[in-house]
Amino acid sequence: MGKVYVFDHPLIQHKTAMIRDKDTSVKDFRDLVKEISMLMAYEVTRNLPLMDVEIETPICKTVMKMLQGEDIAIVPILRAGLGMVDGMLALVPNAKVGHIGLYRDPETHLPVEYYCKLPSDIENRQVIVVDPMLATGGSASAAINFIKEKGAKKVSFMCLIAAPEGIEVLQKDHPEVDIYIAAKDSHLNDHAYIVPGLGDAGDRLYGTK
Ligand code: PRP
Ligand code: URA
Repeated sequence: MGKVYVFDHPLIQHKTAMIRDKDTSVKDFRDLVKEISMLMAYEVTRNLPLMDVEIETPICKTVMKMLQGEDIAIVPILRAGLGMVDGMLALVPNAKVGHIGLYRDPETHLPVEYYCKLPSDIENRQVIVVDPMLATGGSASAAINFIKEKGAKKVSFMCLIAAPEGIEVLQKDHPEVDIYIAAKDSHLNDHAYIVPGLGDAGDRLYGTK
């Protein structure tokens, strides 16, 4: 069974509180999403495998640990997931980036796919799917279905704000997937928006609406 990690780091809590404020500007929102994603990437990569490497310092030869170079793919769910990519790439600059385009039908709240382009060697990569919001869980679950259909074997999911309903759906549909969350919220409202949440993440990132 995959694990659910809710981050308690003060910097992540502080910045996540700031993005909820309806008066936070588009620029600040975008900068904060990037910063939170970078801080979370530090934890999400905690279990990357290391190997012994011989290094010669100015003093002597020594054996130290370095990354085995396990290949990572970051897969944002468009549009809002894009806002999390640069923060992650700041820590794992060699990661490849795939894209999945999904939007929620406003009536049914069900995800509709409009784009999917993944690295060709996705089956050999540790895939981290990113999206700021896990609401009903429909988008994340559908995105992970597509990625698995393309051959991915190791998938985790990282979001900023999650509703309990979405966590439950993701755990039921993809029990092996680890879920990384900056903040777990109370519930969904009648429009399937997260409460207290931050509103529509895509609109707040790109100034639409
Ligand atoms: C938002 C968000 C997630 C999805 C979450 O995207 O970025 O992808 O909703 O909701 P769910 O868990 O109920 O599926 P939206 O559909 O608004 O598209 P956008 O990113 O293009 O704004
Ligand atoms: N999508 C969002 O952007 N926000 C929500 O609260 C739910 C889905």
